[in-house]
Amino acid sequence: MRILLVGGGGREDALGWKISQSKLCSALYAAPGNPGIRRYGECINVSADDINGLVTLARDQKIDMVVVGPEDTLAAGIADELHKIGIKCFGPSAAGARIESDKAYAKNLMRGASVPTAEARIFTDIKAAKEYVLSRDHGVAVKAAGLAKGKGVVICPEPYQAVKPLEEMMQERVFGDAGKTVLIEELLVGPEATVLALCDGKNIYPMEPLQDHKRIGDDDSGPNTGGMGAYSPVPILDRPMMDRIEKEILVPVVDAMRRDFGRYEGVLYAGLMFTPAGPKVIEFNCRFGDPECQPLMMRLKSDLVETMLAVCEHRLDEITLEWDPRPAVCVVMSSGGYPGAFTKGYEITGIEQAEAISEDVKVFHAGTAMQNGKLVNTGGRVLGVTALGSTVAKARELAYAAVEKIHWQDCYFRKDIAVRAMQA
Ligand code: AMP
Ligand code: GLY
Repeated sequence: MRILLVGGGGREDALGWKISQSKLCSALYAAPGNPGIRRYGECINVSADDINGLVTLARDQKIDMVVVGPEDTLAAGIADELHKIGIKCFGPSAAGARIESDKAYAKNLMRGASVPTAEARIFTDIKAAKEYVLSRDHGVAVKAAGLAKGKGVVICPEPYQAVKPLEEMMQERVFGDAGKTVLIEELLVGPEATVLALCDGKNIYPMEPLQDHKRIGDDDSGPNTGGMGAYSPVPILDRPMMDRIEKEILVPVVDAMRRDFGRYEGVLYAGLMFTPAGPKVIEFNCRFGDPECQPLMMRLKSDLVETMLAVCEHRLDEITLEWDPRPAVCVVMSSGGYPGAFTKGYEITGIEQAEAISEDVKVFHAGTAMQNGKLVNTGGRVLGVTALGSTVAKARELAYAAVEKIHWQDCYFRKDIAVRAMQA
């Protein structure tokens, strides 16, 4: 099969690595790709938000299946356009992507299906929103309803702290139209974890659970980021809990989508919080998580293309996924200053030495580029250094040993990725 992978981050590097190992893959293209993906496929300079360009590329290159990484591309309707010309797409239609691109829609869908989630009020009027928060005596989470590159959520332990983000989102429009509608949620408390499930419109197949680390600093301090590290499996998510999540959360929400618009095909990402009252949904995403995808792909033993094809052909019930029982840990190395401003263009060294430590180490590229023959940082999150180990402690040790081999000016990483899993 000829496959086109859309995107150019760490998630796509991990997907490309796994796709290229498939016995079904005869050619792999990536748009726009990155220097990591170039190790196993051809990168073509078409941006992930250029829907027409991507569809033309898929047609011209006689692509059999397009695999879409980023949410924006899905929300813009690439799957719908590809289906019109008979090309398979791993990823939901624009209607399906709405579960991520419109948090007000997702909240109403969950309410209608009795899926446990944080209580929320939805506002389009800033005066009403401010009056509401100031009448509260508990903390709130303020969320832009639209896509905001993972930055649209502000946690406010005191209600008055919500005023500034409401002004930024609704008045100053720092996230553009994504902040036209805002959700104000009760604050939930408890450990968090992520469950990604494959969905083919009929069948749901939850994959191994993961834990992300969203804050920039150790001990979950500082602002939210796209994710500074991840690991799998997650000790709190045992078999009975996974069954409960499937029954109480995944099945009802996929059924609700079927009633609303039809089949949801691709990956459904459930960000969950384990409250004293049970698991509750923090957010749904319409794609693989980044960096969650990196440790997940390290643990997946089955053929990814065969699995994705089964999703596209609505025969997921024929698939059984095999997982490496060993834990995987991914440490994200970022540019100093991220998630704020940072300097690009510093030369990165040591990736080969890091991967030479063990065949259980893999360095996925996220924000890198080749400039004048040198590999440099170009993004906030630059590399996802991922390792498998016989225990979480061993996987961590290996990942951090690999991190120590890699250098560029001002690089940064958290020191406590997966520490919680060892304490469990
Ligand atoms: P999101 O961008 O929706 O993943 O939210 C970012 C982070 O904010 C989550 O990973 C949680 O740690 C936190 N968060 C979001 N919503 C809530 C909530 N209702 N209560 C407590 N924390 C939340
Ligand atoms: N790591 C969080 C996300 O992909 O949304």
